[in-house]
Amino acid sequence: MSEKMRTNPKFTDLFIGDLPLISGVLIASEDSTQENQSQTNSIFSDKWVKYSKEDQDEQQRLFEFQKEWYLSLYNFSSENDLKKYLEQQEVVLDAGCGLGYKAKWFADLSPNTLVIGMDYSDAAFVASKNYAGTPNLMFVKGDIANTKIKDSVISYVSCDQVIHHTEDPQETMIELSRILQPNKELAVYVYAKKALPRELLDEHFREKTKDIPSEAMWEMSEQLTELGKKLSELNISLDIPDIPLLGIKGGEMDIQRFVYWNFIKCFWNEELGRETSISTNYDWYAPSNADRYSKKEFTKMLEKAGLLVRPFHTEEACHSGRFIKGL
Ligand SMILES: C[S@@+](CC[C@H](N)C(=O)[O-])C[C@H]1O[C@@H](n2cnc3c(N)ncnc32)[C@H](O)[C@@H]1O
Repeated sequence: MSEKMRTNPKFTDLFIGDLPLISGVLIASEDSTQENQSQTNSIFSDKWVKYSKEDQDEQQRLFEFQKEWYLSLYNFSSENDLKKYLEQQEVVLDAGCGLGYKAKWFADLSPNTLVIGMDYSDAAFVASKNYAGTPNLMFVKGDIANTKIKDSVISYVSCDQVIHHTEDPQETMIELSRILQPNKELAVYVYAKKALPRELLDEHFREKTKDIPSEAMWEMSEQLTELGKKLSELNISLDIPDIPLLGIKGGEMDIQRFVYWNFIKCFWNEELGRETSISTNYDWYAPSNADRYSKKEFTKMLEKAGLLVRPFHTEEACHSGRFIKGL
């Protein structure tokens, strides 16, 4: 039997034209011709393929942590609340699914819902291999800015921690809104703008990163993890004054968090472990595409995509929420 015949037509019918199938993955787009997007894809291919081979317990801890966070980012009161929500949806897209554990989570919570996980990196192949045998789940290698999905056929689009990595996040949001059924929701997360010193460093680095070999980036990520760990171990809390001109917010803060939010991302989380901390630092510094937004900029972006703006979740790292596509 050819690969094509084994694909559930319920999935393939959602796409414009016939997509090739390679190793169980539908191919909507191979790679980008845009330099920064292509670099971003190869960074994530590198990260996910490497990380998927690391300690499995550590991975499970990250997935559980991420699932809990997902509920609070998108205002689901519990996993059961998410389950009930998904059961109302016919077709769900996990746009930029990475290793695909959230797509798998959605598919398991709601077995009658079709779930598509799409990613532009090789993670789509890793996900498909890891989660083969879930009949209502399919992985696609493709660009979420050009999904090749028909108009208004998706009932819930989840784009968690991804859109700022695409070449033109505004255009990507318009595309995700295009494929969404009217009156249905896009769950989306963007990086928030940080204090000025950190923004300057991040911006400077973002321009340099494509010329730095990935081994050097991994080395730097290890060094930053070590720095984060050492700062944490000091166990010092400071009463920081407000410095509004630099965007530094005052208050009682652990020294590692103070340095982290205001000057340099040096992620360290003892519970998540060393490999996850290193890959989190790599994930921040290595991709060329990683825009940050103020609340106002995020609001404008939603409006331009035809989404109804409602109060949304904001924390130091991000702005996120579920937004309805207007009729
Ligand atoms: C930080 S990861 C988040 C992965 C996943 N959503 C999660 O929460 O675990 C960002 C993902 O976005 C993907 N990505 C970046 N640009 C993309 C694009 N234009 N189309 C599809 N995926 C993209 C990357 O390959 C990467 O897997």
